[in-house]
Order: sequence, then structure tokens, then C-alpha cells
Amino acid sequence: MSIYQNIEVENNQGLFWLTLNRPDVRNALDATMLQEIDQAVTEAEEDENVKVIIFRGAGGKSFAAGADIKQLKEREPLEALVPGMQGLYKKIEDCSKATIAVVEGYALGGGCELALACDIRVATDNAKLGLPELNLGIIPGAGGTQRLSRIVGKGHALDMILTGKIVKGDDAYRMGLVQYYVTQEELDEQIDSITEKIVQKGPVAIKLAKHAIHHGYDLSGEAAMWIEKLSQAVVFGTEDKQEGTSAFLEKRKPDFKNR
Ligand code: COA
Repeated sequence: MSIYQNIEVENNQGLFWLTLNRPDVRNALDATMLQEIDQAVTEAEEDENVKVIIFRGAGGKSFAAGADIKQLKEREPLEALVPGMQGLYKKIEDCSKATIAVVEGYALGGGCELALACDIRVATDNAKLGLPELNLGIIPGAGGTQRLSRIVGKGHALDMILTGKIVKGDDAYRMGLVQYYVTQEELDEQIDSITEKIVQKGPVAIKLAKHAIHHGYDLSGEAAMWIEKLSQAVVFGTEDKQEGTSAFLEKRKPDFKNR
């Protein structure tokens, strides 16, 4: 496993924990951290034992307080055209593993956008989420304008982005911005409960269900239904489908093999 400077990773029993680790600056995402996240996601993607990638922030006060503003200040127009943070978050959304963002404390700007790119978001009672980029004279540029409106609807997205308001965990849950809302004490149990369910599933089915949802979402209904149908045709040909259906009929737990 690689050694990292601004993140920590732990790969254990199908779970790949990726901890953003600059707590003194509320886990602000600098260039090194982004490059390391990219490398770690590749590492997780290439390990067929990994089923879930869990993103979290060190220190309990912040998931991530956004792009590193010191570095942001120096950026030139053409630097916004490279894949950068937007490209990295697309890679995370497209990766074949299930992804979970654990939002304890602040998830602002690029931190919130990272959470939006994950499949499932869990917020604690000290969570505060927002896209306050307009306060800095810029706009959300790592998928935030698009993913936020798709997740919570245009009205909430426009309200949050134009006012820069920070939404607390319980309000985020009510808006559908996060899927789980728990106290900090309940967090570990909640993560265990979600990941336990996912790791029991077959990896091919996880991958194709994710792709059918993410890639079908912006297509016409007809094209999206075809993506679903073709994905189902692929899983119908797998040993895992035989195993899953046999296990049910034989009243035992399936042992999926990723083929
Ligand atoms: N980039 C660089 N440094 C950051 C940062 C960021 N996005 N967010 C926080 N920091 C630094 C602060 O400058 C401060 O550094 P210092 O100790 O050298 O002064 C340190 O982290 C702690 O931040 P502080 O503001 O004192 O903590 P807080 O708990 O009172 O407030 C936040 C936390 C997250 C609300 C506040 O730091 C903040 O608003 N950060 C910027 C959020 C933002 O605009 N993100 C979008 C970026 S595009």
C-alpha cells in the first residue's frame, strides 16, 4: 500500500477507508491531497477485494472545508480548464465500487462537492454543508452546480449556491442532500450497518447498478432503460447470478465471486 502525506488509507475486509488528513486547516483540499486521493481511488479500484470506499475527514470538526484558498488565489483562467477537481470527482462517481461520504463537521465548497460525487452521504449532528464559493467571487466548479441540483432539485440548489447558506445535518437530511443523519456517537454503528449490507452484494451487480443509475440519469428515458436492460443482460450471464438465485432457493447466504 502506498504511503501518503495528506490522506490516510486503510484497506480492510472489503472496506477502503480514505481519510482526508489536514485537520489544522479543516482538511482543505490542496494539490497534494487531490493527487493522493486520485492515486488512492485507483488503488481501491484495482483491488478486487474492495467493495466500498469510505471518505471521511480527520479531527471530527470537518469533512473538508473546500479547496485550499491559498492555492486557489493563485490560479489562472486556463488552469480551470484542466480536469482538476471536477475530473477527480467524476472519476470517483464513475468508479466501480460503492462510495460513502461521512460528513462530520464542515463539508464546504470542494468538500461538499466531494460528498455530492459519492453514492451515499451520511451526516452527523455537527455536520454543516454548503457551497459558499460565491463569497470568494467564484462559482462551484467541481460538479457542484450540476450534482447539487440533481440531488436536491433546482430550487434548493439555487438557494444554497446564490446565498451561500450553510445547511445543518438535520436540514440536509430533510432536503435529501444526505441519506442518513445520526449523532456522532451513533456514527460508527451506522457506517457498519450500511457497509455490512453492501459487502454482501456481488461486485458485478454493484458496478452495473451504479452505472445504470449514474449514466442513465441524464439520458432520455428510453436510452436509460436500454442501459438498464443491457446491464441486466450482462449480469444474467454471470456465475454470481447463478449463485445468488441458487443461494436463495437453497436458503443459504450467497458467496459471490465477481464473475
Ligand atoms: N483553505 C485554506 N485554509 C483553510 C480553509 C480553506 N478552504 N478553510 C479553513 N482554513 C484554515 C484557516 O485559514 C485557518 O488557518 P489558520 O489557523 O492559519 O488561521 C484554519 O484552517 C482553521 O480555520 P478557522 O476559520 O479558524 O476555523 P473555524 O472552525 O472557525 O471555521 C470554517 C471553519 C470551515 C467555517 C472556515 O475555516 C471557513 O469558512 N473556511 C473556508 C470555507 C470555504 O469558503 N470553502 C470554499 C472554498 S472554494
